[in-house]
Amino acid sequence: MLVSAKEMLTKAKEGKYAVGQFNINNLEWTKAVLLTAQENNSPVILGVSEGAGKYMGGYHAVVGMVNGLMEDLKITVPVSLHLDHGSYEGAFKVIEAGFSSVMFDGSHYGIDENIEKTKEVIKAAYEKGLSVEAEVGAIGGEEDGVVGGGEVADPAECKKIADLGVTMLAAGIGNIHGVYPANWTGLRFDVLADIEKTVGTSMPLVLHGGTGIPDDMIAKAITLGVAKINVNTECQLVFAEATRKYIEDGKDKSGKGFDPRKLLAPGYEAIKAKVKEKMVLFGSVNRA
Ligand code: 13P
Repeated sequence: MLVSAKEMLTKAKEGKYAVGQFNINNLEWTKAVLLTAQENNSPVILGVSEGAGKYMGGYHAVVGMVNGLMEDLKITVPVSLHLDHGSYEGAFKVIEAGFSSVMFDGSHYGIDENIEKTKEVIKAAYEKGLSVEAEVGAIGGEEDGVVGGGEVADPAECKKIADLGVTMLAAGIGNIHGVYPANWTGLRFDVLADIEKTVGTSMPLVLHGGTGIPDDMIAKAITLGVAKINVNTECQLVFAEATRKYIEDGKDKSGKGFDPRKLLAPGYEAIKAKVKEKMVLFGSVNRA
């Protein structure tokens, strides 16, 4: 059964580790993440962007696929199905469709509008037992057409949103989606420390743009209160690389190598290896 992310993130915050949010795109992706979590006895969050939700047919299709896989694969670790960077309208749609967690990203609104809309999402989500992530300070980079300028969040604004009673809070600290440019100057740990101090030490903080952040920065972010880390692009890159190698090696032209169950297998295994690597790095192994 899908669960809200509240309990797993409260435990992660207390235990000084982080739970990974891995974005899913299709059945192979979902199966890879779920089985890796089960094999490593780790809690996990499945992230679905609005674009990915549409790609998979819609939110009901996603809920049906995830629930079905969990039952058939006998997944017993805590799994949360979470809307990633939800719009105001999108948030209400997933609450209705059966997600167990929702991010309302109002970071592109002014703080007052962000507060008002976040409040309404919280009310609807909590009535149905979902966890809620809100965001302050847009994450840089581009994700599914949503382009953010890479702001650094204001701790006072973070407190205003945290005080609404959100389950977890995403704050921009120089992190961006996708691969980091060569001239990236790193995470703003001074701001992260300030945010943690201002919002209170029990609030699980969320680090977006997990792809390409060096391991030592991940470890430091966790010591400063990050309890949820989002990873998307890295899984896409290893999937594409493994699939390309299979085709460049001519394997699709040998025997029944064109069978999608064979063609997609190396990419599937690459996602599993990447997710395991991140679970070890984040410290969530054996925390289910
Ligand atoms: P990356 O694609 O950079 O890993 O970011 C993922 C993310 O933050 C999803 O919200």
